[in-house]
Amino acid sequence: MGDMLRFPVTRPRRLRRTKFIRDLVAETKVDPGDLIFPLFVKEGLREKEPIEAMPGQYRFSLEELLKEMNELLELGLRNIILFGIPERKDEIGSSAYDKEGIVQRAVRKLKDEFSNEITIFTDVCLCQYTTHGHCGIITGNSVDNDETLKQIAKIAVSHAEAGSDVVAPSGMMDGAVKAIREALDDAGYKETAIMSYSSKYASVLYGPFREAASSAPKFGDRRGYQMDPRNSDEALREALLDIKEGADIIMVKPATWYLDVIRRLSKLPVPLAAYNVSGEYSMVKLACKAGLLDEKLAVWEMLHSIKRAGADIIITYFAKDYARWHKNGELGP
Ligand code: PBG
Ligand code: ZN
Repeated sequence: MGDMLRFPVTRPRRLRRTKFIRDLVAETKVDPGDLIFPLFVKEGLREKEPIEAMPGQYRFSLEELLKEMNELLELGLRNIILFGIPERKDEIGSSAYDKEGIVQRAVRKLKDEFSNEITIFTDVCLCQYTTHGHCGIITGNSVDNDETLKQIAKIAVSHAEAGSDVVAPSGMMDGAVKAIREALDDAGYKETAIMSYSSKYASVLYGPFREAASSAPKFGDRRGYQMDPRNSDEALREALLDIKEGADIIMVKPATWYLDVIRRLSKLPVPLAAYNVSGEYSMVKLACKAGLLDEKLAVWEMLHSIKRAGADIIITYFAKDYARWHKNGELGP
């Protein structure tokens, strides 16, 4: 064949010839250490409860949460982000900063048991805790930014007090990182880090999560505070503001429909997390359950695409599966 060609052929295929050569030259690697596993902990539960909208995911009781953490550690997964589902909601989301709240109790229990073997991130928001389901305090018919900041700061301090390693404000309120940093420092929690959901889009892909966490807004939508999917400059502005306010880690959310945004923010000099959200999880999961995609290959390709775009950290409901496949040598093609 070669003789028939009139020009010298450059042959990139040499480096694709065997699996071992491909592994050797792979530009992107996803390690379980790069992943954060989201966990739902629900007040008043006895057994763990399957989440219908997210096959394979559960709401955990405190006891079950400890068991789950043991399993995760055995698989080499030590990073989790906690979402609380309280029994009691009110207009101002006061159960979110209750010392005996579900997240605060869960963090204390986990830290008693596992100490610094695990890194606990806690989501700081009001939507699961308010009767109206919005991420802030309602004045008139909109979310009052600065009133919300006071609540957010209280939540973050209560999480830090319980032992959270990283607090993660997810409500897209202006000035949230600054308010939290000041409150943490004043309360003596200078070591507690902040991972800001800096660039969080108003996405249809949060649907399954809202079912999981009973956090859907009762009126209107979140487009008055979350970002417009049509924008990318705005993601950069939001990220720069949060870095200036003291964010230790920034985030793009969702991940796969926003890989361009991940790429853009990856140039900034702070670690970047990408949240592979509930809708991304359920779409892939259901396609795999229907036999349309090979699950191990789909998850492998999806997570590598997020890393390749420039994320340092991936928050994903597939973390446990990925860690198991990694441990058993079943990962990838
Ligand atoms: C709420 C919050 C949401 C998610 C995490 N925290 C969604 C929302 O805006 O309703 C979504 C996570 C997911 O979809 O996996 N502050
Ligand atoms: Zn919220």
